[in-house]
Amino acid sequence: MNRYIAPSILASNFLELGKDIEMINKSEAHWIHYDVMDGVFVPNISFGIPILKQISEIALKPIDVHLMIKNPDPYIIPFKEAGAANITVHIETCIHLNRTINFIKEQGIMASVCLNPHTPVDSLDEIISEVDMVLLMSVNPGYGGQPFIESTYSKISKLRKMIDSRGLKTLIEVDGGVNIRNGKKLFEAGANVLVSGSYIFQSDDPIKRIFELLNV
Ligand code: DX5
Ligand code: ZN
Repeated sequence: MNRYIAPSILASNFLELGKDIEMINKSEAHWIHYDVMDGVFVPNISFGIPILKQISEIALKPIDVHLMIKNPDPYIIPFKEAGAANITVHIETCIHLNRTINFIKEQGIMASVCLNPHTPVDSLDEIISEVDMVLLMSVNPGYGGQPFIESTYSKISKLRKMIDSRGLKTLIEVDGGVNIRNGKKLFEAGANVLVSGSYIFQSDDPIKRIFELLNV
């Protein structure tokens, strides 16, 4: 199974953001994970469209945009135009999820859906064939540096079975508290993409940490 690493720049040093993007460019990471928070759906505010636009001017890797925002629909086109290669919306924020997913796909980019830790995998039953990727939160979204929630492993296995039994190619991404201690088990449970913030950036050698997580 293909394995990908997506460093979350929420954990980077914003005064040196350009350097951190160049580090990711040089590393074996596949994507750049970009966390957008609105202070309404999640209890924190991060960054938005203008910063994404500047990052995409120097990024050599596709940018994976994780929208932790209420009412994401009006922002799909602006984020696409600012450089998003994938847009992930939360199932908990989208009343018309099928419409939102298809609208993202109409923009010619990947469309993905995210589940909070308490949201069951079964809630994907009618949408799984429409999405390119499912993002399973392994922490409650809003902050970096939180401890990994152990029940994520069984959610991954359940989702892997759902995807494989239907002959789909949907990717499984995991986000929150991912590090060298749980990375192997996450890949073995059926995850394809590991998002990691503090584990990668709180290190003197983030390139090495990306390499080690990929080859865990
Ligand atoms: C949490 C964000 C994550 C976060 C992960 O709300 O969606 O992407 O940056 O950070 P760590 O790896 O530090 O848990
Ligand atoms: Zn995220």
